[in-house]
Amino acid sequence: MSARDDRSKVAVLGAGLMGLGIGQVLAAAGHEVALYDPDPSAVTSVVERAAAVFELLDQDLDGLARIDATGELDRAVAGAGLVIEAGPEDLAVKRRIFANACAHATPGAVLATNTSSIPVAALAEPLGDDARRFLAAHFWHPPYLVPLVEVVPGARTAPTVAAEVVSLLSAAGLQPVRLAVDVPGFVGNRLQHALKREAIALVASGVCDAETVDAVSRWGFGLRLPALGPLEQSDLVGLELTLAIHRQLIPSLDTTPAAHPLLEQKVAEGKLGMATGEGFRRWTPEEAAAVRRRVTDHLVQAARRRSGRVASGGAAAR
Ligand SMILES: NC(=O)c1ccc[n+]([C@@H]2O[C@H](COP(=O)([O-])OP(=O)(O)OC[C@H]3O[C@@H](n4cnc5c(N)ncnc54)[C@H](O)[C@@H]3O)[C@@H](O)[C@H]2O)c1
Repeated sequence: MSARDDRSKVAVLGAGLMGLGIGQVLAAAGHEVALYDPDPSAVTSVVERAAAVFELLDQDLDGLARIDATGELDRAVAGAGLVIEAGPEDLAVKRRIFANACAHATPGAVLATNTSSIPVAALAEPLGDDARRFLAAHFWHPPYLVPLVEVVPGARTAPTVAAEVVSLLSAAGLQPVRLAVDVPGFVGNRLQHALKREAIALVASGVCDAETVDAVSRWGFGLRLPALGPLEQSDLVGLELTLAIHRQLIPSLDTTPAAHPLLEQKVAEGKLGMATGEGFRRWTPEEAAAVRRRVTDHLVQAARRRSGRVASGGAAAR
């Protein structure tokens, strides 16, 4: 079996936040999904957690029957064309998971890691010939609402493997992109954290408060982002204008070569964000809950628009 088959079985190793979401989206797309976790409570809660997602998205509950939650890794990977690891972000644990997966998966199965930050090369190193069928497939949270998957081959990945994974994920309604080189943070987190670095520096230098940074982002360029990426926008306004702005602006942007001292200070003071009532801004539990609801509502409306269940310009736009 190959990961190229649009309905092939997929094994997801780790049934936490990301594993559950990855399993749900692939089961909804018609794949048989085995969700493995060594923690019995993660296994027994899969049906309830996945059902809540099917209901949130008004999806046919038939997909739930395609999810097999198990505490046995060999059973999970048996017959799977694609094995996606979504275990803890720990190199030693992930290496153990792949050693087990290689021992039990079918020889043609593709092996993917959902790591956020561990280099593909570090995970591929002990895999020997199995490195040819290994790559990163970095899903975003939650995978059933945020469709991007960054597919990142390592130096030894066979040329056809990334294409197979991209094809399977596209057929499942996701938006895979393929990177040529494995760099820390892939593309999405590099862009996101470049923006955060400047945002923190603006607050630290007294230009504006955190609320203003968020307002400028949400009500300014952020409104365009779902329709227009930054380089499309550069081409739209013209590169001469972009160049003129960069010549003026780039020399004054923050270049702190480490985590910003203001972020270090907040964490040292226990100001960890919504969970502790204060981070860059102050939060009551009600305000924090309202933000979570706002984000989920926004993403659900966007997912429904993508699947054609809310007419463009309908409820979400009012
Ligand atoms: N949370 C996010 O927003 C996000 C986004 C993208 C990628 N990731 C990455 O996805 C991976 C999982 O993150 P998460 O947020 O789902 O974490 P999580 O803690 O919610 O889930 C991890 C799961 O792995 C299980 N586990 C522990 N040992 C295991 C083993 N040996 N084999 C298989 N499973 C094992 C745990 O029991 C747990 O259920 C991490 O590598 C993380 O960096 C997370």
